Amino acid sequence: MTQSVETRPPFLPWNRPSIGIEEIAEVTDTLRSGWLTHGPKATRFEQAVRDTLGVADAFAVSSCTAALHLAFLAAGIGDGDEVITPALTFCAAPNALLQTGARPVFVDVEPVTFNIDPKAAEDAITDRTKAIVVMHYGGHPCDLLAFRELADDHGLLLIEDAAHALYAGCDGRRAGSVGDLATFSFYANKVMTTGEGGMLAGRSDLVQRARLLGRHGIDSSIWQRHGTRSTADYEVIAPGLKYVMPDITAAIGIQQFRKLPAFTARRAEIAATYTRALADLPGLATPTVLPGVQHGWFLYSIFIDPDSAPLTRDQVAEHLRTEYAIGTSRHFKPVHMLRVYRGAGTHPLPNTETAAARQLSLPCYPAMTSHETDRVISAVHALWNRSA
Ligand SMILES: Cc1ncc(COP(=O)(O)O)c(C=O)c1O
Repeated sequence: MTQSVETRPPFLPWNRPSIGIEEIAEVTDTLRSGWLTHGPKATRFEQAVRDTLGVADAFAVSSCTAALHLAFLAAGIGDGDEVITPALTFCAAPNALLQTGARPVFVDVEPVTFNIDPKAAEDAITDRTKAIVVMHYGGHPCDLLAFRELADDHGLLLIEDAAHALYAGCDGRRAGSVGDLATFSFYANKVMTTGEGGMLAGRSDLVQRARLLGRHGIDSSIWQRHGTRSTADYEVIAPGLKYVMPDITAAIGIQQFRKLPAFTARRAEIAATYTRALADLPGLATPTVLPGVQHGWFLYSIFIDPDSAPLTRDQVAEHLRTEYAIGTSRHFKPVHMLRVYRGAGTHPLPNTETAAARQLSLPCYPAMTSHETDRVISAVHALWNRSA
């Protein structure tokens, strides 16, 4: 039933960050410290992520997009190279690839987890292929071992766009720890946030190269020169860019990363509640979690089949927003359908297009109360009941 404006509860956004007094105290400490740019706090944050992932090195940067761009540059990806990537993703990796002069080659996802399909990726390999960029859709890790083997068999680099998947894994192997490089996002809606921010992690030779390129190509960081050399005493040894994460931002990251296990546990609890409550609705599919997987639950996706559900995906989103004051989102408008990429020619993408037409992201984040989770469940049930 439609609720009147007077009785309508406050708008429940699709996403909302969880920032506590710990983050505020850490930022205040940084502001008082006299060191604001990439320095001791960014280094602490990098070490924490590096050690948790068990990788050789990590570099904190201004966004996941910056991390992707640096990953491609550090890997020597450029003019004439082809890089295999899913189309069911955000535009960041394909855009960064185009910036290097390389060509993204879009392949399909598999229909269970909506991660890039290893067989489709293999079929797309040519003698120009330089790398495969996998993406852990919504926080469900892709088949990392299959992709590691595929990359090794063909002499390709494996890059994990793990923007959704910090703290996700499979059989004890963490997403972001298997590729030659991995990138993470700390954008405001991610599983942990620094407002804007990202991390590049992986092989030490590649991360070191990225670190150089991410600070103008200058041979030492300002923090390394501080107190030991004149800050003006530097050399530029590569044509770099400026992508470092400031310490003000890293301060938030240190505290958010400490809380990430608890955040992920709460996301998993909400996801389980949704699945229990929604799985039997006709035409509505809830997410599948494969055995051995620790899901990151950046997204809680439902998939609405227009032939068997009483409403289309877009109708559900519209009713939830206008009648029940509940925000949702869609992930993603596939990249090959975005204007810059239209007409570029791709491999067949039937699963990508079906998922993109049916997928709806429900609110699923630690700042949500149980009452808010119940509100979403009741609203979806009400829509199905009245439309059946
Ligand atoms: C899969 C994926 N990769 C990369 C990004 C870009 O992240 P950022 O905003 O930190 O640059 C996003 C952002 O939503 C994303 O979903």
